[in-house]
Amino acid sequence: MAQRQLKLGLVTTGVGGPGDSNRWLDPDIPLDASVNIDWYIEVVRQAEAAKFDLVFIVDSQYITKDSPPHYLNRLEPLTLLSALAVATTHIGLVGTLTTSYNAPFNLARRLASLDLISKGRAGWNIVTSGDAGTAGNYGRDEHFDYETRYGRAAEYLEVVRGLWSSYEEDAFVRDRSTGVFLDPSKLHPLNHKGQYFSVKGPLNIQRSPQGEPVIFQAGDSDHGRNLGAAVADAIFTHAASFEQGQAFYGDIKERAAKLGRNPDQIVVLPGFTLYIGDTDEEAREAEQHYRKVDQSFEQTLGEFGRSFGWHDFRQYDLDAPFPVQALEFAKTSFYTAAKRITELAVARNLTLRQTLEFGRAARGSPFVGAPETVANEIIRWFEGRALDGLNVHLGHPSQFTRFTQQVVPILQERGVFRREYEDKTLRGNLGLEKPRAKPRTATVDHLPISASA
Ligand SMILES: Cc1cc2nc3c(=O)[nH]c(=O)nc-3n(C[C@H](O)[C@H](O)[C@H](O)COP(=O)(O)O)c2cc1C
Repeated sequence: MAQRQLKLGLVTTGVGGPGDSNRWLDPDIPLDASVNIDWYIEVVRQAEAAKFDLVFIVDSQYITKDSPPHYLNRLEPLTLLSALAVATTHIGLVGTLTTSYNAPFNLARRLASLDLISKGRAGWNIVTSGDAGTAGNYGRDEHFDYETRYGRAAEYLEVVRGLWSSYEEDAFVRDRSTGVFLDPSKLHPLNHKGQYFSVKGPLNIQRSPQGEPVIFQAGDSDHGRNLGAAVADAIFTHAASFEQGQAFYGDIKERAAKLGRNPDQIVVLPGFTLYIGDTDEEAREAEQHYRKVDQSFEQTLGEFGRSFGWHDFRQYDLDAPFPVQALEFAKTSFYTAAKRITELAVARNLTLRQTLEFGRAARGSPFVGAPETVANEIIRWFEGRALDGLNVHLGHPSQFTRFTQQVVPILQERGVFRREYEDKTLRGNLGLEKPRAKPRTATVDHLPISASA
């Protein structure tokens, strides 16, 4: 059996994502990085030269004045990935697209298109939308409650996968000598009527090179983990420590095994910012420096409300006990994250100020040090089954360059990371099997599609 290999993804939030309000002040980052296709191409090619598996685009569709700079002004994921597809050759292209504010037919079609354009490198990070305010941009008063969000997401996947099975692999005959373009016996409508969606199909695009784009999932509640274990090829998550990483990893793989799935066919990729220096000491200083300059306490306070449906915490006394009543506002937002913060504040009897300080300290990276130190720690997490790979936040460009030039070669020398791509598809590089078409309905032969019709 081939040796298990580490996977690497690149997460880029250009001028600064959550926790990094001032990153755009770094002169190495173009001031318009989040909307600058030339800059995206440059950094994604850098990741591709380092043999990264994928680039991962996070997204949301609701902003406030306290949103971080990248969120205020950024490119739409599938449009961006389509441009990256023609500027790269091997790296996987994963976009975050919500099941709460997209129609399944439209998304199935756009993702299959990206898979064709990129020749088999498309991925989809399924989210249900953490930002409750998105509802107002789509004609709704409120975001869906949890049952509905995750119920819709599960059915959504069923519909999208059903649509991707509209055509069997070899449905298009394209034979000029016989005049046969399509074998209609290999075209299947969907006729889906479920609790949330009604979709006839078939989809108007052929089965794409990967059969199905790679499915990621991000969402940490029981509902979220069950969805991931049931439908995902890969999971995007956070891990604050080795132990937390191991616990999450074990939990997801166990849930998948209980559902009869092969746990090796779910790749767990937590996101991390890494800090690298010539020495461990220098790296620690770099981390301290960046964490101090990248976000002030006032900015942390403004952004803190995001998990709580953008509730404004500036209205509370910073030195009074943490306002537990605020959890109510998280019900349709990032509830799992908000509940974790609230429970921690109560258990430790923290004030609001102390809770924020605790959060700022907890953002410390587990991967800080000289290249050798960081590589050793990555291998420890990988071999200890705390992760299958890392989604590396680009952060400050000089740090990302150190990672690709100084840490990746060590991982290659140690035999845990590739020197060359194994495959041209994202599935192939992630070691995932290619799914076969599973048409949901019998053939229809009355569709007038053959050349003679
Ligand atoms: C690691 C991680 C990354 C996420 N990324 C996004 C994202 O890019 N866009 C988005 O709208 N929601 C994102 N979410 C939100 C989830 O889709 C979900 O709506 C939210 O976390 C609440 O569900 P939960 O309680 O199951 O975590 C993310 C969640 C997690 C845990």
